[in-house]
Amino acid sequence: MKLWGGRFTESQSKAFDHFHSSISFDKRLYKQDIAGSLAHAEMLSRQGIISENDFKLISDGLLGLLEDAENGKIEFDEAAEDIHMNLEKLLTERIGEAGKRLHTGRSRNDQVATDTRLYVKEEAAALKNDLLHLITVLTDLAEKHTGTIMPGYTHLQRAQPVTLAHHLLAYAEMHKRDIDRLNDAYRRADVMPLGAGALAGTTYPIDREFTAKKLGFSKICANSLDAVSDRDFALDLLYALSVIMLHISRFCEEIILWSSREFGFVELSDAYSTGSSIMPQKKNPDAAELARGKTGRVFGDLLALLTVMKGLPLAYNKDMQEDKEPLFDAADTARAVLPVFTDMLATARFNEGKMRDAAGGGFTNATDAADWLVGRGVPFRDAHEVIGRLVLYCSARGKSLDELTLEEYREVSPLFDESVYDAISLENCVNRRDIPGAPARERTLALIAENRRFLAGDN
Ligand code: ARG
Repeated sequence: MKLWGGRFTESQSKAFDHFHSSISFDKRLYKQDIAGSLAHAEMLSRQGIISENDFKLISDGLLGLLEDAENGKIEFDEAAEDIHMNLEKLLTERIGEAGKRLHTGRSRNDQVATDTRLYVKEEAAALKNDLLHLITVLTDLAEKHTGTIMPGYTHLQRAQPVTLAHHLLAYAEMHKRDIDRLNDAYRRADVMPLGAGALAGTTYPIDREFTAKKLGFSKICANSLDAVSDRDFALDLLYALSVIMLHISRFCEEIILWSSREFGFVELSDAYSTGSSIMPQKKNPDAAELARGKTGRVFGDLLALLTVMKGLPLAYNKDMQEDKEPLFDAADTARAVLPVFTDMLATARFNEGKMRDAAGGGFTNATDAADWLVGRGVPFRDAHEVIGRLVLYCSARGKSLDELTLEEYREVSPLFDESVYDAISLENCVNRRDIPGAPARERTLALIAENRRFLAGDN
């Protein structure tokens, strides 16, 4: 018989049992569910709602279930629907009467919201660790490459020279914001629904603050209807995960481009590459491609839950059981991607010569040539025009700006002298961009130092 079977006379359809049971996926919440039950039972006994002896039986029983679950010794039952009722049923089978008192003053509605919040908090913390590791790798690599000049792009056309360090530190900034979003998701999940009951609280004199403290929640939900209806906290994590994946995906796209023969900026280690079953020469950046691909499913998970929630009246509706699979899938996906991506990056070999050649070959110093003329009093718009003509001249002859003779320069403007060569050297182009946020070596070192401080503590 079902735990809720009292008012039913017929048994449930097997097909429906299978359809609405969530145990196949929510069984992974056994730890959170047992923690919630332990705290709830302790509170009930402190408040004199159940006896101390019943609490002792319940807590011993739950700890036994935890151990067995940890060792894979528990057989969950589809007919018992979900993790909450499976555990309650098993507990009662083991300890008898006292097990039936556990659910006093509680509902699966506040129980599932509590379990899911505990899960979100744990995942947010674990993901933050993964990101801290990634930022460490980015910062270490940046330190090695403060002098590695490469083209910066706009429209994927070579634009101005930057350094590989500057490029890597751009991603470090994104991931620092990702951590901020995870912190937010954590903070908003850190509020306890338990005590909201099914929807309207309970008549028992429960002590919600005690239970919250036991479970490590900072606060309790202020409105019982909201407590059981809200899944914003799951959406917050899904959004944070989506943006993390978006950032990973963009870098993956670059790594895929960079490891092509056309770019040749990077060679991935064999450990993170695959071959072709037919083409013997191939070395494919599968890890980066798969990470880029998995980004799609995480976005899908976010949209799935947004859509599930959009039409639901207060308070709990069974639709909300559909929150778990996307949430688990997105968290599992990001946690699988991050370590692989991080190690793929850490073991990649960057081709400094190719990067420099690309920066030297695409007129990336044209802005600096125009700026040199501005230094001689020419209005920027006119200087832009003059250098534009020089670029056209060079393009027709297969030359770069630094290969022109002074005579050729003077043909477009008599103001030119020898010092223009120094001004358009790639090193100077980079290092004279010496304002906060720009790629000059000193600015790069300052940002690296800031990242070290971030990694060491205040994050
Ligand atoms: N398995 C359910 C879920 O995940 C638990 C809550 C069920 N509550 C109910 N009143 N049917 O949402």
